[in-house]
Amino acid sequence: MIAAALGFSSLCAANGKEAAMDTFIDRLMEKMTLQEKLGQLNLVTGGDIVTGHVMKNELDSLIRKEAIGGVFNVNGPDKIYTLQRTAVENTRLGIPLLVGMDIIHGYETVFPIPLALSCSWNPDAVERMARISAVEASASGINWTYSPMVDICRDSRWGRIAEGNGEDPYLGSVLGPAYVRGYQGKDMSGKDEIMSCVKHFALYGAVEAGKDYSTVDMSHQRMFNEYLMPYKAAVDAGVGSVMSSFNLVDGIPAAANKWLMKDVLRKQWGFDGLLVTDYDVINEMSKLGYARLPEASVKALEATTDMDMVSAGYLNTLEQSLKSGKVTMTMIDNACRKVLEAKYKLGLFSDPYKYCDMAASKKKVFTKEHRQAAREIAAETFVLLKNEGGCLPLQKKGKIALIGPMADAANNMCGMWSMPCRPEKHMSLLEAMRKSVGRQAEVKYAKGSNVYADEKMEAPANGIRPIVRGNDDELLKEAVAVASEADVIVAALGESAEMSGESASRAFPEIPEVQKELLRSLVATGKPVVLLLFTGRPLVLTEENKEVTAILNVWYGGSEAGEAICDVVFGERVPVGKLTTTFPRSIGQIPVYYNHMDTNRPDPDDSVFNRYQSNYIDESNFPLYPFGYGLSYTTFAYGDLKLDKTEMLQDGEMSVTVNVTNTGDREGTEIVQLYIHDRYASLVRPVKELKDFKRITLKPGESLDVTFVITADKLKFYNAALEYVCEPGDFEVMVGPDSNNLHKAEFRLL
Ligand code: BGC
Repeated sequence: MIAAALGFSSLCAANGKEAAMDTFIDRLMEKMTLQEKLGQLNLVTGGDIVTGHVMKNELDSLIRKEAIGGVFNVNGPDKIYTLQRTAVENTRLGIPLLVGMDIIHGYETVFPIPLALSCSWNPDAVERMARISAVEASASGINWTYSPMVDICRDSRWGRIAEGNGEDPYLGSVLGPAYVRGYQGKDMSGKDEIMSCVKHFALYGAVEAGKDYSTVDMSHQRMFNEYLMPYKAAVDAGVGSVMSSFNLVDGIPAAANKWLMKDVLRKQWGFDGLLVTDYDVINEMSKLGYARLPEASVKALEATTDMDMVSAGYLNTLEQSLKSGKVTMTMIDNACRKVLEAKYKLGLFSDPYKYCDMAASKKKVFTKEHRQAAREIAAETFVLLKNEGGCLPLQKKGKIALIGPMADAANNMCGMWSMPCRPEKHMSLLEAMRKSVGRQAEVKYAKGSNVYADEKMEAPANGIRPIVRGNDDELLKEAVAVASEADVIVAALGESAEMSGESASRAFPEIPEVQKELLRSLVATGKPVVLLLFTGRPLVLTEENKEVTAILNVWYGGSEAGEAICDVVFGERVPVGKLTTTFPRSIGQIPVYYNHMDTNRPDPDDSVFNRYQSNYIDESNFPLYPFGYGLSYTTFAYGDLKLDKTEMLQDGEMSVTVNVTNTGDREGTEIVQLYIHDRYASLVRPVKELKDFKRITLKPGESLDVTFVITADKLKFYNAALEYVCEPGDFEVMVGPDSNNLHKAEFRLL
């Protein structure tokens, strides 16, 4: 084995960690041929999930030819073990493979989709989810996950909004590092620690018109102040790898953008880990009108891209580019070193099979403890959007009609990127509800409608795990009959799992019409209707908000979602979640987000149309539900803000305190949010920006003084010269339960 041949253990003992790694890799690279080095830069899909063009390859023979440094999306520990063994035992140097997968919200135990997780505003929950994911994935052969995705997104037409932390840079910067800590553990060398990959660097969430793989164009000020922060936070947290994005940055494909990768990521932020492209990006640069494969490979290498995912441009063209002097051996060596360093840090050279312990895989995956954690965490991500007359929680009595295409679809609970999930092992909502109520109540079920009336439209919406179709007229009739006999109707409607995620942009982000018709018929029965909203993105719910009694947004909650939903619906748990994306009132408002700039013509009164002010003739300026919004089964009252001073020095600090009281009759958790507005600055600043938050749990009648400390850091921004500064002047500080419901005070920075 290569490690023994190079005296791995004596090196480790003799040198410091870094020095030992450098010496080991120096010695290894001395032995490597150019083709072996180029092979290390080549990342190949196993083909179990394919998101683009596939090279015709035969993994086994490519490995034997030393043409592969890593594989990804190979599902199953046995398959992975076989590939790893071929790399270690049937190549000249026996260099083990990186084995990647998109484990973005759990492995076989599936947690809620990332957008839902962000609504918990709970970095500990996110870290726990990532830790469990790493334990399960590492026991199944995987040593690298393509997560977290921290792309800020303000456009709910984009399906991949489901994969990120929503629209806020600060929250994204708190949650991104929590993922990294969970996956990588101490230093990613442990048996159950894997390498994390922050993506998609950069700005992918800003694709025009919410259309996937579309273009992006943005000022550097906006990039630095609003979009780049969460990637930087993940780098600061020690993320082992970064994935570049599909989109253009300043007119250049991100993976080939030297300014972005070399100057910002490597030099300014000090990232010295592995930089990989997204799927087939180098090859696709030719379709983009940028460069053909050989030239694109040169450009990507110049930008310090180390690994080429799928396009094989590095493998097949860099030798020629080296001969013609377009790239240097040092550039190839640098990239190869990064790949080998990642393998070294994961401990693959000392034990290439450390992630291939078949016995461990069975014991560590989908355990009772992991499922319990997934159930608890899922319940924290649901957002109560409306609850007229305290309709929720429901009592376990009488007749409950559970209606809708999402109600009995166990194969549709997990959301996108959940390849390892095993739907046959977990419950549907209907099964969970029947189990939860036992003999105390009767749960009657009817599917009510298809996801879409149009079968062709439904096919891509259902992807690999379709919901069985029926005849819409018959389904509706049956549903109305079931609903008419019930005391309360629970409607499980919305998007199917594959309607969000990659390649799932929607021009109409709302509940499909056939399901809306069903809902109207249910409301017409005159019974209370609780809408359980299944969705991967913010939807326009203006009509539903008017018509139904209660709305609980349950997103895509993972393998344990059925039981978690019942925990909240029947009141064993109180809703905590708050939105991390603005919910538009109508599609024409998109993009709508809370931290926008003010205008020179701010609308003085939204209830009437004011000519020559910034507004719409036919729509309000306000969203349906603002960022940070979410109800509870209890209520909280906020007192006025108390500042310990009204003037602050740049090297000083001040505190803001608000008294919060639980004024309801249930214990509940509140997410108290702090926003700041810089009133006058050399660059116009947003009307408010989230700068801190605290989760507090209060018993009925209990009060707590919640104190936030403000330092200059919370007042800084990137100015026109991209210097990170704070400027003296007047500031507003705001605290409250959501971005639209805030108590204000003012202070001055001297
Ligand atoms: C996606 C990435 C993903 C990669 C590998 C791409 O299509 O954009 O997010 O990590 O495929 O599966």
